[in-house]
Parts: sequence; C-alpha cells; structure tokens
Amino acid sequence: MLAKARASEVRAQWVQGEIADWALDSGGDRYDVVFSNAALQWVDGQPAVVARLASRVTSGGVLAFQIPADINAPAHEAMREVANRPKWETMLNRTSIREWHAEAPTAYYDALAPITRDLDLWITDYLHVLPSVEAIADWYRGTGLRPFLDALPDETSRELFFTEYVEALGGLFSRQADGKVLFPFRRLFLVATL
Ligand SMILES: C[S@@+](CC[C@H](N)C(=O)[O-])C[C@H]1O[C@@H](n2cnc3c(N)ncnc32)[C@H](O)[C@@H]1O
Repeated sequence: MLAKARASEVRAQWVQGEIADWALDSGGDRYDVVFSNAALQWVDGQPAVVARLASRVTSGGVLAFQIPADINAPAHEAMREVANRPKWETMLNRTSIREWHAEAPTAYYDALAPITRDLDLWITDYLHVLPSVEAIADWYRGTGLRPFLDALPDETSRELFFTEYVEALGGLFSRQADGKVLFPFRRLFLVATL
C-alpha cells in the first residue's frame, strides 16, 4: 500500500509506523488535520489512543477517523462459525487469531469530549451492491478474514477455508432480481475539532 502511495503523484512523506506509537510521540509535530481511515479498529486501547492522537492536532485543527462498527455482523459471525467446525480444530492456530474491534461510540465520546471543542459522530449503514457472495468474501480476504487465514498452515487449507466461507455466506445473502447481492456494512465516523 505504501509502495503504491510512494509511486503516486501525491507529494507527501510516506512513513510506515504503528498508530499507537505515533500517537504517543508527544514531543512530535502537531498537524492541522490528523485523519485515519479504516485502521484504528486493529489498535488496542482505542479510546486512549484517539485521545493521544488529538494531542497531535493544532488548536483549531481536526481529528477525523472512520472505522467499521459491527464485528457481529452476519458475515463476521459466519467466519467464526466456519472456524469452529471440527475439521479445523487441529489446523487452525486459534491463539493467534486477533480480530478487529470497535468500542461503543460513547467510549470515543468520553475520551474526546473533555479535550475537544466540538465533536461530531455518526454511524452509517452502507448497502454495497456486489456481484456475488464471492465478492463479499474477497472483500474480507484482505481485512476481517485475514486473522483466520493467517492462522492456517498453508495455501491449500486457506483456500479450503475460503471456499467454506463463501458457501456459508451463500446461506446468508440472497441474490437480487438482477443477480447482485446487497452487502450491509456499518461504519462509525468521528470528527473532532480541537
Ligand atoms: C483496511 S486498511 C485501510 C488502509 C487505508 N487507510 C485506506 O483507507 O485505504 C487497514 C490498514 O491498517 C493498517 N494497520 C493495521 N493495524 C495498524 C497499526 N496498529 N498501526 C498502523 N497501521 C495499522 C494495515 O496495515 C492496513 O494497511
């Protein structure tokens, strides 16, 4: 992702780093805008981390982030249901599986309200129009499904797990009249002015 960004025309300094560490750099520069898209859900202790991110914003500047907000959506439950099947018991390294998580909106509010001038937060349910349930599984291959696939020993088992996941999704989503699938996805947005 960073290699692609570096190859783009965008004039910026691209730095690879851990969000929580960057947030902690209290001696570091402050910015007019600190923005995170679809990444904080992988970070532990999010309310404390977003409060520290706010400390990297100039007075009058903005902290904005967006994260997925429903780890118990049917497509996520389906991953766990497949993972709990007896056939995966010996192959899947369960202790290594670390799924993303989101706190309740109230937790981000309580962390940020005392240190910000204005706070706007909302949740939107998107209905993505996708060509098939395979497209839903592909969507998750690089995100929510990744901890499960990474916990398997080889490519063969990963592909088998993926196939079972596609089949499980087939039982959850029906096709529209034109053959497409409506895939619901909930996101939490927060914009804080310092
Ligand atoms: C769904 S992608 C979103 C990427 C990009 N922000 C975008 O909107 O296209 C999630 C990204 O979060 C990064 N990520 C996950 N945990 C992280 C952490 N603790 N610190 C920094 N980045 C992290 C992953 O490497 C991945 O690139």
